[in-house]
Amino acid sequence: YGEFNHKIDYVFKVVLIGDSAVGKSQLLARFARNEFSLDSKATIGVEFQTRTLVIDHKVVKAQIWDTAGQERYRAVTSAYYRGAVGAMLVYDMTKRQSFDHINIVIMLVGNKADLGTLRAVPAEDAKEFAEREGLFFMETSALDATNVEPAFLSVLTEIY
Ligand code: GTP
Ligand code: MG
Repeated sequence: YGEFNHKIDYVFKVVLIGDSAVGKSQLLARFARNEFSLDSKATIGVEFQTRTLVIDHKVVKAQIWDTAGQERYRAVTSAYYRGAVGAMLVYDMTKRQSFDHINIVIMLVGNKADLGTLRAVPAEDAKEFAEREGLFFMETSALDATNVEPAFLSVLTEIY
């Protein structure tokens, strides 16, 4: 788990999200330092740790942000999602409620469909990406109202 002396090719920010006490901080302690503690204190606000590793011959510095699961820190923690390229939604296998709380529906929306002649992203590319990542996908136009209603309704319907 030592740092590498090579130059860093990428810095990736990842956030850990989930109810309090599901084990986010200990997952990070295990990943970053190969440590584990049974008497872990609740995280206050946000903390981060890094680990540098080689992935596909590139030196990647993983910057993992550990957020507080306790409701009262919600306003603080969400500010730290900015710039993250990944998120881990964590639940406790022994606490059904912590799983039921993980019900975010993520939808990929290609907007400005009215500007079809200027298209730089083929619908196929977006569709493929969405399928690979398990996202819903729709192309919309706020200008002419194309698919706006269906996009919002499909997210809202999925939540229930
Ligand atoms: P907040 O900071 O409040 O959001 O909680 P957290 O999700 O960071 O939980 P934390 O990592 O502090 O762990 C909570 C409790 O669960 C601690 O007592 C940990 O030791 C325990 N714990 C964490 N991971 C595991 C695990 O994989 N197995 C077991 N048995 N206990 C774990
Ligand atoms: Mg914690």
